[in-house]
Amino acid sequence: MANEADLFCSSSFSRQIICVLLLFSLAHAQNVVVFRPSYLTATGPVASVFLLGNTSGVSLTLRTVSPSNTTGSIGPPSCVGEETQWLITSEQVAKTAVRVHLKLEKSLRLCGENETDTDCCPQPLCVLETLQLSACVGEAPQASLLVQAKIYARLFPTNTGSDNKTVIPNQVHQPLGPCPCDLTLKACDIRCCCDKDCSLEELKLFASHCLPGPFGGQVSPAPDYQCSVQSTENSPDWFPFLCVHSPPENNPYLGLFYQGDTITPKPGPTFQGPVLSAPVPVNVYFQESPIFTLNDQYFTIPQKVLGHCVNSAPVAFLKNFNVKCVTQLRTCPDGSPLKTSLMDLRINVKNGQGGYATVDVDDEVATDLSQFISNKDAVASSDNTLVCQNLTLALDYKFYWKGNGITSITLTRTVGSVTLNGGVVLTTRYSAIFLNGEFTGEHNSGNPGYQVRQRVIAGIADTLDNNTGSIQRTTINLWKPVSDGLCSTSDKRPILFGENATSGCLLPISQQNLTQCNLLREAITSLHETLTTATYVSRYGNPDPRTLADWINITYVTLNSSMPMEDTTGSCYGIPSHQHIYVWSFISGVVQGIPQRDIRALQISYSLSTWAMDCGGGDVSPCMDPVETQLFPITSSVTFIDIPINTEPPKTRFQINFTEYDCNRNDVCWPELAFPITKYYKGEPYSQSLAKGLILVFFFITASVLGTPWRQIRQAWYTACL
Ligand SMILES: *[C@@H]1O[C@H](CO)[C@@H](O)[C@H](O)[C@H]1NC(C)=O
Ligand SMILES: *[C@@H]1O[C@H](CO)[C@@H](O)[C@H](O)[C@H]1NC(C)=O
Ligand SMILES: *[C@@H]1O[C@H](CO)[C@@H](O)[C@H](O)[C@H]1NC(C)=O
Ligand SMILES: *[C@@H]1O[C@H](CO)[C@@H](O)[C@H](O)[C@H]1NC(C)=O
Ligand SMILES: *[C@@H]1O[C@H](CO)[C@@H](O)[C@H](O)[C@H]1NC(C)=O
Ligand SMILES: *[C@@H]1O[C@H](CO)[C@@H](O)[C@H](O)[C@H]1NC(C)=O
Ligand SMILES: *[C@@H]1O[C@H](CO)[C@@H](O)[C@H](O)[C@H]1NC(C)=O
Ligand SMILES: *[C@@H]1O[C@H](CO)[C@@H](O)[C@H](O)[C@H]1NC(C)=O
Ligand SMILES: *[C@@H]1O[C@H](CO)[C@@H](O)[C@H](O)[C@H]1NC(C)=O
Ligand SMILES: *[C@@H]1O[C@H](CO)[C@@H](O)[C@H](O)[C@H]1NC(C)=O
Ligand SMILES: *[C@@H]1O[C@H](CO)[C@@H](O)[C@H](O)[C@H]1NC(C)=O
Repeated sequence: MANEADLFCSSSFSRQIICVLLLFSLAHAQNVVVFRPSYLTATGPVASVFLLGNTSGVSLTLRTVSPSNTTGSIGPPSCVGEETQWLITSEQVAKTAVRVHLKLEKSLRLCGENETDTDCCPQPLCVLETLQLSACVGEAPQASLLVQAKIYARLFPTNTGSDNKTVIPNQVHQPLGPCPCDLTLKACDIRCCCDKDCSLEELKLFASHCLPGPFGGQVSPAPDYQCSVQSTENSPDWFPFLCVHSPPENNPYLGLFYQGDTITPKPGPTFQGPVLSAPVPVNVYFQESPIFTLNDQYFTIPQKVLGHCVNSAPVAFLKNFNVKCVTQLRTCPDGSPLKTSLMDLRINVKNGQGGYATVDVDDEVATDLSQFISNKDAVASSDNTLVCQNLTLALDYKFYWKGNGITSITLTRTVGSVTLNGGVVLTTRYSAIFLNGEFTGEHNSGNPGYQVRQRVIAGIADTLDNNTGSIQRTTINLWKPVSDGLCSTSDKRPILFGENATSGCLLPISQQNLTQCNLLREAITSLHETLTTATYVSRYGNPDPRTLADWINITYVTLNSSMPMEDTTGSCYGIPSHQHIYVWSFISGVVQGIPQRDIRALQISYSLSTWAMDCGGGDVSPCMDPVETQLFPITSSVTFIDIPINTEPPKTRFQINFTEYDCNRNDVCWPELAFPITKYYKGEPYSQSLAKGLILVFFFITASVLGTPWRQIRQAWYTACL
């Protein structure tokens, strides 16, 4: 049974643990002790083995053994210990298991020349011996184990103290240096097999892990256009004509490590940890570079990082963001960002031009807190009503920039007093927008034409401005449903130039609403009207509010009131449920290769539909109960239509300039193929270049006649003839 277990155990190392447990019970049952594994090879200065079984009263002895000169076998286990260079320690790991450790009490250092100290290895193969470990009870050996020790001396680099770098010859003229990985002077660089400083012993240590490629000094195989690598099978038959004779030193890696300057080696450790320093503030800002305050700290605003709100995240130049953070409030906060002081917000920010810009804070008091308090806690207890004064509900930054600098920063802080009825869920908003120019106050959508995916700029006549004819910017919107998709909670989002889109929201309608069709139509019309209040749309991406020619009237296609309405009970006709926005645009020109698009017209119209309760599918309750509601969709869509600009009749052949041979207007220039034999070529006398050209042509013809296709044609010809 023990033998079976032995077989099983030696077959797989990974089962060792299972074996130990298995043998453990075996040994226990038979009241014997065994060593596991039953044979040990030590290649290092420590080794360990398990002794399993009833180990009470068992002593361990160790001796060196050698095979008998005559029989070749090792004598029987003996309980007489011997002085060895190994130290035995044992530790009880379980009731019937002892782990025995063997530790070499000898330094594995290679002896120096003429060294008198004995604690070193005179030869690289430092220890080569066979040991016999016996477990004895009294004088009777119970189990024994043979340990084969074969331990090499540890090699330390001879002169580790020197950190002088190898002086590499000028890489422009020298192929790769002789050995690019030889980095340290007069010392063996690990894994650098071409390093002449490495001794044979050291090389043996990493011979199978040499650094590959040119860096490891192994110049890759000669390129296949070299005549010397002509292989008989794969090379085409014209290869000997066109192959290249070139010395092997002239390889593509010539100058690979050359960077245009030389490094003067300076004493000091080669591998130094980089000294971490505080971020060096930029002089000028580039896109996405962080913005710094006057005292060289990052300028931070609460932001979302990986989906989580972070109270202070650096702001990147020209990177707009608009995030909402949700906080559960149970007590009044007294720290940033929910409680901010003007002094903390009025920060001096480096403007990228050597000066600074101060954040200009403007307070706004929110009276309608519905967009900030999303969900009041249901467990509102009246005696626990707490009012948190002046909480910071929104921080909207506007950065005005020009070139690589910031011209000014304004901040609109929205504060409000929040009543805590036990607890509220507070949604705060943080935004930053970068606006070009100095206080234009508005973000343009192109210059001069619209760019795709920029807002369509709409306008309403500015009434505040004493009727000077100025136009105030606004947007044209579509629905932006949130969570439940109901129109009452729906948001709006501006339409973007060139992006067709459709969106909508749901309106709960009851049987009772359907009895008052006119009211319903009005309600839905006014719902649509909340989307867009504009009367003008800007022709260009950067309209001037005072130039009326930059603006176009929006055409509202009014509903046909003369249309007969055939409302029956329970259904309403002519509900303007769908709003169409059509935008006609055309390419008016090209600026620096970017087409500029102008809006020619914008029309808003409605589609009418008939609404009636759906009582099919067995769900009749909405039709029976006058206040039971069903959800009806209200949709809006925008379509951008390109007006083709080229409406003229196509040009006739006579009108078209022949530009095919004009090298300035074509990517492929056929005349330049024959350039050396044209009169424009001034490199050589005309007669010479003509002669050379003809020789080339001759070679070309010869190569093609001797080449594969012709040979195949000739062969085909012969076979056909025979
Ligand atoms: C272990 O061996 C000792 C004597 O060598 C003996 O007295 C003891 O009963 C044994 N224990 C078990 C569990 O077999
Ligand atoms: C075996 O041979 C070696 C040398 O060949 C000798 O030193 C040693 O004493 C011999 N041992 C015996 C047991 O004969
Ligand atoms: C070692 O000893 C030899 C002979 O005594 C001597 O020639 C040699 O210089 C010594 N080497 C060193 C490193 O001391
Ligand atoms: C290292 O360089 C310094 C200065 O060039 C020189 O004095 C020293 O001898 C060099 N060390 C070795 C081991 O070459
Ligand atoms: C809240 O703000 C208003 C006006 O900004 C101020 O008059 C009032 O004292 C503030 N209240 C608290 C508690 O800070
Ligand atoms: C509007 O007109 C009034 C009186 O005519 C004038 O006092 C005010 O400054 C004007 N406002 C603007 C913005 O021009
Ligand atoms: C928008 O829709 C119109 C009409 O269907 C189509 O001609 C146009 O190519 C669409 N534009 C985009 C960007 O898909
Ligand atoms: C539908 O009727 C209810 C109750 O009369 C009213 O509150 C609601 O505003 C109506 N909805 C519409 C869209 O008219
Ligand atoms: C735009 O509408 C206004 C009135 O709303 C009208 O006076 C003006 O003539 C219209 N312009 C164009 C170009 O139709
Ligand atoms: C409005 O009604 C009139 C007459 O019924 C019809 O001719 C016209 O096309 C309708 N217009 C629209 C936009 O439906
Ligand atoms: C043809 O090209 C010439 C010069 O490039 C230009 O002056 C002329 O206007 C062109 N004619 C047409 C029809 O494009």
